[in-house]
Amino acid sequence: MKREIEQEMSYLQVTAKEQLHEWVEQIKEFSSEGKTADYIPALKDMDSSQLGICLIGADGTVIQSGDYESVFTLQSISKVISFIAACLCCGIPYVLERVDVEPTGDAFNSIIRLEMHKPGKPFNPMINAGALTVSSLLSGETAKEKLSYLFDVITMLTGKTPLINETVFESEWQTSHRNRALAYYLKETNYLQGEVEEVLEVYLKQCSIEVTTEDIALIGLILSLDGYHPVFHKQVIPKEVAKLTKALMLTCGMYNASGKFAAFVGMPAKSGVSGGIMSLVPPNTKKQSPFPDGCGIGIYSPAIDEYGNSVKGVTLLKKIAKEWDLSIF
Ligand code: DON
Repeated sequence: MKREIEQEMSYLQVTAKEQLHEWVEQIKEFSSEGKTADYIPALKDMDSSQLGICLIGADGTVIQSGDYESVFTLQSISKVISFIAACLCCGIPYVLERVDVEPTGDAFNSIIRLEMHKPGKPFNPMINAGALTVSSLLSGETAKEKLSYLFDVITMLTGKTPLINETVFESEWQTSHRNRALAYYLKETNYLQGEVEEVLEVYLKQCSIEVTTEDIALIGLILSLDGYHPVFHKQVIPKEVAKLTKALMLTCGMYNASGKFAAFVGMPAKSGVSGGIMSLVPPNTKKQSPFPDGCGIGIYSPAIDEYGNSVKGVTLLKKIAKEWDLSIF
């Protein structure tokens, strides 16, 4: 999207840009932990050395570094957008009757608590059980209609028409046995609405939407501003929905590493197994902060850890949060 605010960078922002280049180079060179998501064959061959970042400030300043132009699939970052979309079409109370807002401490695709913790309501919309339920609530009867609604919401946020990576979708469609099992179980307990295969198609296609670090940084920025779009100059997400979404990102967005992430980074964030992380900094009064009016952050680096979070991405966010004192706590 062409941003209309061309801002002269402040001294702190110029310094921040230089620091960022240095940290990206260091982390790219010295961190070799993690591996690409091999349970989705099409993601396995991504170049794990890549690391890119884009920060967009509320003042219009854009700072990019490393492989920020790489195109990758949203994967679980899409859970944030589908949650927002479901709240827009059904209202918060209706959505929260079907999915809770509690962290689990379990893996993102865990099935265990659905039966253990009666009555089987998914714990939150950031784990697969909750996200499948949320996708089933999207406006429309068929997968095509639900996706078309979700695409409209994405276009409202990024100004772009989303594209699905069909290779990634096909690859996951063939191997998504656990998601199928979760969806059938949720259908049996009446949390999932409509037909399982239709919902699964919506969920896996939303995961396969292609983005860049700039797209997710912009969505992060809109959330940072409580739903106000600084380029289109309008409230695109109701404030209440934006606040709820940020709380979910902070408590559940990095799965069973969300506690550590809150403790050592301290910013709302959502990861995806393709190696993307969408994060944000609220408006703040921190002295070292290059973005006192808030910013959105998009990161891409495909090697992930056992929780499904980008290893280099988390390392870079930790560094930024520490050096610029960006933790919200
Ligand atoms: O449901 C799945 O397995 C994936 N398409 C999305 C999972 C994911 O991104 C988990 N994130 N870190």
